[in-house]
Amino acid sequence: MAIAKTENIWHNGKLIPWDDACLHVMSHVVNYGSSVFEGVRCYSLPSGPAIFRANEHIQRLVDSAKIYRIDVDFTRDEIVAGMLEVVGRNGVWPCYVRPIILRGYGEAGVNPFNSPTEVYIANYAWGKYLGSDAEQGVDVCVSSWTRIAPNTLPAMAKSGANYMNSQLIKMEAIINGYAEGIALDANGYVSEGSGENVFVVRNGVLQTAPLGNSVLPGITRDSVLTIAKDLGIPVVEQGIPREMLYLADEVFFTGTAAEITPIRSIDKISVGKGTIGAITKQIQREFYGIVGGDKPDRFNWLTPVPVRSKQPVGV
Ligand SMILES: Cc1ncc(COP(=O)(O)O)c(C=O)c1O
Repeated sequence: MAIAKTENIWHNGKLIPWDDACLHVMSHVVNYGSSVFEGVRCYSLPSGPAIFRANEHIQRLVDSAKIYRIDVDFTRDEIVAGMLEVVGRNGVWPCYVRPIILRGYGEAGVNPFNSPTEVYIANYAWGKYLGSDAEQGVDVCVSSWTRIAPNTLPAMAKSGANYMNSQLIKMEAIINGYAEGIALDANGYVSEGSGENVFVVRNGVLQTAPLGNSVLPGITRDSVLTIAKDLGIPVVEQGIPREMLYLADEVFFTGTAAEITPIRSIDKISVGKGTIGAITKQIQREFYGIVGGDKPDRFNWLTPVPVRSKQPVGV
């Protein structure tokens, strides 16, 4: 999907024109992948735009920076305020928000300590990620690529470098005609897709991989666990063997982009009846009800964006 440019990008505390948000090719991040970032959704509610789980996303961002020893001049709350400012000023929603912290232009060489930290926040209009048919379920494969192993690249950090692994998974899936690939971890347990956590339902029990299986601590994953517990659906976080993917009654992806996307086949084996399952539907109803404003925001997940006009600009 082409990026639909907006007017402003937040850079180190100030709004700058979209076209001025440029980096030198010799920046540390370009050469060594030294970035951490977030992907956040701003939904359109009848009351106006609202950012989904703003604090949790930016907490994960500052956690990612901490793992990589990146000093950041802004607090979590200041970066959250930056998101509200840029989305409000650009007047574009529903949208995707991309805060990114990176090592900029300073010194040559792998040592990152003498390259300055740059913080940017961009936003742009954004629709469905895995295609408009995704509500019916997507066809996926198990990737031949293994997810990054523990103590190689930290899976709990959302770093740009991790997405080289994700790109291999995604490209293989696309080339073979699938919407997405599911990667196994270094021990052969189900890990995740290139940009999604995976949930499995078997005999009424919802299962997902624990953080020890090299998964990103997904904000949507956490939201689904919260909804499921609230609805009284039994939940376990445990290692999922590959074959469980083929035996499950229901499988679905969760992610900011994918939201809750049912999976209808894996490696051309039908998941359950090959249609969206009852538990997936039940959780989807709650999730989309809350983010669409049809159900009360009972978990306090939505932060309203102050805007000048209730009407988005040019969307
Ligand atoms: C590798 C990976 N796993 C899982 C997820 C889902 O996380 P979240 O629900 O926070 O978007 C993402 C998306 O950010 C991702 O890139």
